[in-house]
Amino acid sequence: MFNLMIRSPLSAKEWQAYYKLRWQVLRAPHGQLLGSEQDELEAQAFHGSVFTEQQDIVGVGRLHRLTEQTGQIRYMAVAEAYQRQGIGIQLLNYLESIAINENMRTIKLNARENALPFYLSSGYQIIGEGPLLYGVITHKWMIKELNDV
Ligand SMILES: CC(C)(COP(=O)(O)OP(=O)(O)OC[C@H]1O[C@@H](n2cnc3c(N)ncnc32)[C@H](O)[C@@H]1OP(=O)(O)O)[C@@H](O)C(=O)NCCC(=O)NCCS
Repeated sequence: MFNLMIRSPLSAKEWQAYYKLRWQVLRAPHGQLLGSEQDELEAQAFHGSVFTEQQDIVGVGRLHRLTEQTGQIRYMAVAEAYQRQGIGIQLLNYLESIAINENMRTIKLNARENALPFYLSSGYQIIGEGPLLYGVITHKWMIKELNDV
C-alpha cells in the first residue's frame, strides 16, 4: 500500500475531482447527470478525500451533523481500481475522528447492500431498512457508537 494522505479538498481543481469521483462511483452507473451527486448540505459538511502520492483523488466521503451529538456519513466512494485495498476503512476512520473532535457520539448512515460487509467490519450495526434509491438500490440504516472506538 502506498502512502495515503486524507484531507478535505482545498483548491477548485481538487473540489472538482472530489465531486467527479463521487459522481463516477455513485451516480453515473445509474444514469444520473453530473450535479446529481451534490445536495444542500455540502457547505456545512466535513469532507474527506484520499490522495495518492501523485495527488490523484481515489476516495471520497462526507460527514454532516444530524443532531448535536449525532453525525451522518454519506457518499463514501473509492475508485473502482482502488477498492479492497484498505482505502475505504482509512477514510471512514478519518471521518469518525472528525466526528469525535466535533463532540459527536454516534454515527448513523444508510448503507447500500453491497457495502454492508464494509460497514459491519467497522463496527456498524443494522437498525432498520433504509431508502430505495432509483428503484433498485436498497439500503440498511446503520449505527455506530463512537465511544466504542
Ligand atoms: C464500500 C467502499 C467505500 C469500501 O471501500 P474499500 O476501500 O473498497 O474498502 P476496504 O478495502 O477499506 O475494506 C475494509 C474491509 O471492509 C470489508 N469489505 C469491504 N468491501 C467488502 C466486500 N465487497 N465484501 C466483503 N467485505 C468487504 C472487508 O472486511 C475489508 O477488509 P479486508 O479487505 O482486509 O477483508 C468501496 O468499495 C466503494 O466505493 N464501493 C462502491 C460504492 C459504494 O457502494 N459506496 C458505499 C455507499 S453506502
